[in-house]
Amino acid sequence: MKITVIGAGNVGATTAQRLADKELAEQVVLVDIVEGVPQGKALDMWEAAPVEMTDTMVIGTNGYEETAGSDIVIITAGLARKPGMSRDDLLAKNADIVGGCAEQAVKHSPNAIFILVSNPLDVMTYVTMKRTGLPRNRVLGMAGVLDSARFRSFVAMELNVSVEDVTAFVLGGHGDSMVPLPRFSTVAGIPLPELIPAQRLEEIVTRTRNGGIEIVNFLKTGSAYYAPSSSAVQMAESIVKNKHRILPCAVWLEGEYGLRDTVAGVPVKIGRNGMEQVIEIKLLPEEAAALQRSADDVKANIAKVK
Ligand code: NAI
Ligand code: 2OP
Repeated sequence: MKITVIGAGNVGATTAQRLADKELAEQVVLVDIVEGVPQGKALDMWEAAPVEMTDTMVIGTNGYEETAGSDIVIITAGLARKPGMSRDDLLAKNADIVGGCAEQAVKHSPNAIFILVSNPLDVMTYVTMKRTGLPRNRVLGMAGVLDSARFRSFVAMELNVSVEDVTAFVLGGHGDSMVPLPRFSTVAGIPLPELIPAQRLEEIVTRTRNGGIEIVNFLKTGSAYYAPSSSAVQMAESIVKNKHRILPCAVWLEGEYGLRDTVAGVPVKIGRNGMEQVIEIKLLPEEAAALQRSADDVKANIAKVK
């Protein structure tokens, strides 16, 4: 197993470290445009290997030759929004960056499965599919795992229970337009509405929707990366170990949930070949309407980068 992580910033470097700590690959290749940064961070990680007792070799590079033959490519390269920059500016700039990285990466690793992290995540998933020409089962966007992890962590705190017993079901886009489904979210199999009063549950859902900005407001100079990297690595692990986990991922839809020609977060079974199946469930009318709105937003943004 060989895994490439593109972007050696906060999310990318932490992702590489987690992959190495879990020994999920023989080799992890960290790529960035800034000279020295991927090389230095990778060497630092490799020097931790004897202490962590893992044999995953981490190497850093500014090119793509070293990435050749990767089984998984995780893209975290891109800009975060800066003052004076509109969402559309970010969209266009990151579409250029991510599209370029994806094109380079697929040339050297034509059989890889791509996991997208760069924002706006849903559109970057589309951009990668188009620029690589890969089928949809090999291009997965990470956001749902993060959004549901945030939801689960808040529920565990609220009820003073183990995070291990909390499951969460989240559909739709990342952040603002996420569609959490509390009736399918449980603590040890008990649906959340049975355990948490409706108003309090709504507050927890709102905090989850604003989970990204809550961290930005603390950090001031960047966004979250510990939970995002854990989330990307969980998806990679299901591929590496062919676990067939069902995880919420952003994928191109072809009629599932009544949606097509757009990307949305839906429950997906993930194994060695990437997406194996979109799991469909029957939604209530208001849940279906929220998912439709979220998918329409993504479609409008996709139109801007087409
Ligand atoms: P960062 O600024 O720490 O790292 C970004 C890295 O990308 C930098 O090292 C930069 O040099 C590199 N880069 C820029 N252009 C490149 C290119 N053409 N080729 C290779 N590397 C290039 O940012 P951070 O915190 O790591 O976030 C990365 C992206 O992930 C952002 O777009 C952020 O919004 C997104 N994100 C998405 C999440 C999600 O849930 N999908 C969660 C957290 C972050
Ligand atoms: C987050 O939700 C910035 O999308 C990133 O933390």
